[in-house]
Amino acid sequence: MNIDGKQAAADLRVKLTKEVESLKAERGITPGLTVVLVGDDPASQVYVRNKVKQTREVGMISDEIRLDEDTTEEALLATLAKLNNDENVHGILVQLPLPKHINEEKIIATIKPEKDVDGFHAMNSGRLLNGEKGALVPCTPQGCVILAKRHLGDDLSGKHAVIIGRSNIVGKPVSILFLQENCTVTIAHSRTQNLPSMCRQADILVAAVGRPEMVKADWVKPGATVIDVGINRIERDGKNKLVGDVDFDDVSAVAGGITPVPGGVGPMTIACLLKNTIEAAKIYG
Ligand code: GUN
Repeated sequence: MNIDGKQAAADLRVKLTKEVESLKAERGITPGLTVVLVGDDPASQVYVRNKVKQTREVGMISDEIRLDEDTTEEALLATLAKLNNDENVHGILVQLPLPKHINEEKIIATIKPEKDVDGFHAMNSGRLLNGEKGALVPCTPQGCVILAKRHLGDDLSGKHAVIIGRSNIVGKPVSILFLQENCTVTIAHSRTQNLPSMCRQADILVAAVGRPEMVKADWVKPGATVIDVGINRIERDGKNKLVGDVDFDDVSAVAGGITPVPGGVGPMTIACLLKNTIEAAKIYG
């Protein structure tokens, strides 16, 4: 069974639109998100365009700042300093990856934690790890949990979640979120021994490695819930195609629920970005 991320994201946006309306009516706050894009990577341009469009659709203010590929680190830091001090900006997102001459860690550390709607700042990852209130939680991991719950119901306790991938953006934070849901969590990665048999133990399998169609049917326990975070562009039969980290056709036959690519986790990432911006405006606006 397909887990429909497009529909889940649309449902979430309906809720968020209402929250924006009541924030405006009750507190006079219109949540604002500014997206900063450095350079002209085509994939990043598409993401940024979608983020800006959807932000406006739920009634929020959205700005886009485009900087040249050869923008200096100092210039980007100065832009962020302005946004940090702008009270109409509740969320700041710097689209990654950045050009090589700019230090990503330094940029992320410069964004005010209260406006870090990506949830990448050490203050937010620390708060998430400690289970503290007020953490802005990375968007894709939030989307993964929402989709797992959409299929399995709200109570995930006791389920074995196997996460393939240990990145700061997805693998590590999504592991913490499933742990908070009382799952038993295993983090697998490129050095894990006998990865297929490890994955076969999962009730919930999250693939976040960036390897096209790596997860096959015999890696999946019958009936398991499979969340595919991968977005890989490949060429097949002379055409460009978008595929996940899971071999969809193969795994669909055994999984109880599976997110497609596109139309699974991707739309949820953007919806959760809007959610985080509203959260930031509510708490810190
Ligand atoms: N590039 C790809 N995904 C993301 C994301 O979630 N946030 C940011 N800032 N950049 C990205």
